[in-house]
Amino acid sequence: MCGIVGAVAKDNIVPVLLEGLLRLEYRGYDSAGIVVANGKLHRVRTTERVAELAKLVSIEKTEGLTGIAHTRWATHGVPCERNAHPHFAGNDKKIAVVHNGIIENHEVIRRRLQEAGFEFLSDTDTEVIGHLISLHLEITRDLREAVCLAAAELQGAYAIVVIEEERPDRIIAARNGAPLLLGLSKNGNYAASDASALLQVTRRMVYLEEGDVAELTSSNYHVINITKNKLGEKVRRVELETDLTREAVELGPYAHFMQKEIFEQPVAIANTLEMVFNAHSLSPRLFGSEAESVFQKTSGILILACGTSYHAGLVAMHWLEAISGLPCSVEIASEYRYREPIANPDTLVVGISQSGETADTLAALKYAKSRGHRYSLAICNVPESALMRQTDLRFLTRAGPEIGVASTKAFTTQLVALMLLAAVFAKLRKKISEKLEQKLIDGLRHLPIAMQLALQIEPQIIEWAKNFSHKRHALFLGRGVHYPIAMEGALKLKEISYIHAEAYAAGELKHGPLALVDKEMPVVAIAPNDSLQEKLKSNLQEVRARGGELYVIADADSSIQESEGVHIIRLAEHAGMFSPILHTIPLQLLAYHVALQKGTDVDKPRNLAKAVTVE
Ligand code: F6R
Repeated sequence: MCGIVGAVAKDNIVPVLLEGLLRLEYRGYDSAGIVVANGKLHRVRTTERVAELAKLVSIEKTEGLTGIAHTRWATHGVPCERNAHPHFAGNDKKIAVVHNGIIENHEVIRRRLQEAGFEFLSDTDTEVIGHLISLHLEITRDLREAVCLAAAELQGAYAIVVIEEERPDRIIAARNGAPLLLGLSKNGNYAASDASALLQVTRRMVYLEEGDVAELTSSNYHVINITKNKLGEKVRRVELETDLTREAVELGPYAHFMQKEIFEQPVAIANTLEMVFNAHSLSPRLFGSEAESVFQKTSGILILACGTSYHAGLVAMHWLEAISGLPCSVEIASEYRYREPIANPDTLVVGISQSGETADTLAALKYAKSRGHRYSLAICNVPESALMRQTDLRFLTRAGPEIGVASTKAFTTQLVALMLLAAVFAKLRKKISEKLEQKLIDGLRHLPIAMQLALQIEPQIIEWAKNFSHKRHALFLGRGVHYPIAMEGALKLKEISYIHAEAYAAGELKHGPLALVDKEMPVVAIAPNDSLQEKLKSNLQEVRARGGELYVIADADSSIQESEGVHIIRLAEHAGMFSPILHTIPLQLLAYHVALQKGTDVDKPRNLAKAVTVE
């Protein structure tokens, strides 16, 4: 989704702003823009990529010590230059503003501002924010106060950064419901929606909290909070060195971030499991210091998530019920938040999210609390995210930054975290012996190596991909705990290769989808050696009998045999209960190589954004 960079420094800030926007490209955008204060507010915007913006900026020789920049993912108003940020505000255009998020009461405020004589040049809710600040500035004569008063009137989510022609020595930043952080350095101070945009200049960061308004100059900054007092009360925020490294957000020897992230999975999983390996035991403390007392009272689990994270939740439902005997339900966050569910206070609500900023997941968790659920747990990949701050308990997956829009290593590390959750509950509820606990830990210890071995099937997948790239549809089949893995395979293929792909529980085939099967329909089957393998084999016969081409992902010693129209890839070993984690890898590789052959934008598929911070 949208990205923000702001800078006030002792040298020309234009290269920093442009480099920052490049680092934010992965979030998805359809236009980009920059405003630099140098006597006047100088603006350049485009509906092309950031590289094109950089060319325009260099042609116009734009330079200055203060500026703001933005990549926009359209919500209010079509993607066009007129709607691109930064927006000028006030009829004299002496303020410029960039904004992430959605203002829910923008229409009411717009009418009021129009009556007051403000002219609107875009369809965005951002321009409403700008003019509202301008209205307050006419009275307060101070930009920071004007931002505070305007922010107090806004309903919805925002991260904003504002500059003013008259006072080019400072920028004002404010957040509520959308991420925003400050970067501090000797050479200047910065604001951004994502730490990766600022690693080029500093690792010292301050994460703003809800209701914070910050004023930054090139040598100083301070933060106030407007939650209790419209004009703000001074607050101290922790300055920290981010763990994020430049290498972690750079491509290195890989062609795409998705490829890099697929191959990083063994390390990501080993990092996520480090605490377990060090402790040699499965302790509730993995989920926070209060976890043991919460887990003792827990009588069921409700998982809320979206997209790939929802698929991780579906896998976890099988594990939680089978291993720990706890009833578990899984809901799509955007659906749950608008129905009237019956809440059991002792059902632990688990929010799963790579980014920790997904608006629907955050809202669903809040809603669950309002319905009476007492405790919540976040499983998330971003330590400073809103989700991690919103829940009672938390588990940080250590996948490292995920830049490719299609989630890969975040998913498999979520699965590992959820397996740990199931195992911890099983131990607390005395469903597993000490011996079994050690066996499970040994299995987890072996997992990174098993992932390495699974990645070696890439050359065979490249061959398969040739048969998919000219197809228009594909079916994915799985049973039991592997049905959500089939769903994940279909989602990966459709989002990056634009081939229409659907997943079915294989037993459902003859209840409708079998009608779609003919020789043009490739059917991918997830077929591990589990208790459902024989049932699945019958389902595959049904496909073959209708001429469907089968692509079967089986285990090493599987009894499924290759024959005409039946292609088989065998994973190096049978992973038992970890099988869903390993069987994900061929599906990620398949989507990646089909997309490569089709020539789509693998890391930034059309219409999608990395963190879905709007509803
Ligand atoms: C698909 C994908 C999305 C996300 C979904 C939720 O590859 O990445 O489906 O899983 O938007 O995002 P998070 O996990 O950040 O809440």
